Amino acid sequence: MSAPSPPILWCRRGSEFARAAADQVAALLARSPQAVIALPTGQTPLGLYAELVTRAAARRLSAAQARFFNLDDYLGLTADHPLSYARFLREHFLMPACVPEEHIRLLRGDAVGIESECREYEAAIAAAGGLDLVILGLGTNGHIGFNEPGSDWSAQTHVVRLSTETRATHAVQTRGKFAIPEYGITVGISTIAAAREILLLVAGDAKARALAAFRSGIPDPKWPVTSLLTHRNLTVLAETELQSATGEGVKAPH
Ligand code: GLP
Repeated sequence: MSAPSPPILWCRRGSEFARAAADQVAALLARSPQAVIALPTGQTPLGLYAELVTRAAARRLSAAQARFFNLDDYLGLTADHPLSYARFLREHFLMPACVPEEHIRLLRGDAVGIESECREYEAAIAAAGGLDLVILGLGTNGHIGFNEPGSDWSAQTHVVRLSTETRATHAVQTRGKFAIPEYGITVGISTIAAAREILLLVAGDAKARALAAFRSGIPDPKWPVTSLLTHRNLTVLAETELQSATGEGVKAPH
């Protein structure tokens, strides 16, 4: 018996995709201006962030009352390091969208006591009332945040050893300019699963295999993204260009 295919909203690569993603976030902010949102890093959300910043500048939405966390970062980097996800988010979204500093809590990859940083981060999310929305990108190997294949689905924020595939992908993206750290820090899958709403963004040809694994509808620890299949309020936005991609070696979607 085959598992049901999860519903996917297909949008053409580029501005249509970015607008559709921004519409989801804007709808939440309209309903709940003080929403608590966890943000991803990467190429995928860049269009979304640009669209949100444009709408904020035109006063079509405001992110000023919302509170923001991030999903992951490299371990050991200061917040101003060029590779730091904290820096990326400040540059591409938080600063241009005029989010006040007191509404921002980002993972401190360079914290001295990293275990207590993980605990404090979870406590900060809980103190904010839990996450209303988690926005996720997708790793080529199916990771979400930095929850790599084989991750414990019951984990909260924790330190992870990055996979060879993840480090290699990032080395290419940064054109070998920086050494990619061996470890990352990430909110765990149970933290993500506890969010009231999840928006998964799937963009880029390299995501074909991970998307195929997700579309198979079968939860599989080898593909962390499949942990989302049972979430009660999940929206998946994927590029139309990936619609026919099945991904080699993964059970084809039906
Ligand atoms: C990194 C991040 C993820 C992100 C993924 C996809 O590995 N840890 O949080 O979702 O990359 O990145 P991109 O959108 O650039 O493909």
